[in-house]
Amino acid sequence: MTHDPNALTNRLLLENKAWSEEILSHDPEYFHTLAKEQRPKFLWIGCSDSRVPAETVVNANPGEIFVHRNIANQVITTDFNCLSVLQYAISVLHVEHIIVCGHYGCGGVQAALSRENSGMMIANKWLLHIKDIYRLHQSELESLPAEQMFRRMIQFNIIEQVNNLAHTSMIQTSWKHRKGPTLHGWVYGLENGLIEELITLDHTAPIEAIYRFID
Ligand code: CO
Repeated sequence: MTHDPNALTNRLLLENKAWSEEILSHDPEYFHTLAKEQRPKFLWIGCSDSRVPAETVVNANPGEIFVHRNIANQVITTDFNCLSVLQYAISVLHVEHIIVCGHYGCGGVQAALSRENSGMMIANKWLLHIKDIYRLHQSELESLPAEQMFRRMIQFNIIEQVNNLAHTSMIQTSWKHRKGPTLHGWVYGLENGLIEELITLDHTAPIEAIYRFID
């Protein structure tokens, strides 16, 4: 028996064909309409983890959510990838909400808290920012049992990324001129599929003076 090296990707292509045909059978104009423009109201900044697909976990359709994902859902203000997505979402799409959605059991946060995988030189640099968050909350975190500490750390990481968004001149400018978007920090439970809200910041949020770019 010959082994097809592309069997796995061929399955995806077949599934894609079936998906497209299924949608067209209900609405022959579906893709034609969707192709004209996108007007998503949400920017989703999530973890790359395959178990937390943005549209799936909130039952959204194509066209509803503008998505950026990276390891451990970070907003790092020297990351031109995330910043470009943010700029487009704010300046062109005028999204109403930006959601940072992390998840319990996040391998990125776990890796940042350990010294395993010391050979992952690039990924370790990316995760260094999470070690800084640990240091910021070290006394509280170290008072907790291991499992609780991990969950709390995941929450702190999400909250920090929302604060990072608020510290960008892009968000501050947009808040001043159009009083939006609202920023949300959400955590998703792998074990139950549920999301809880940890933090919400809108244009009235106080920004510490050293992080304020716009008066
Ligand atoms: Co993760």
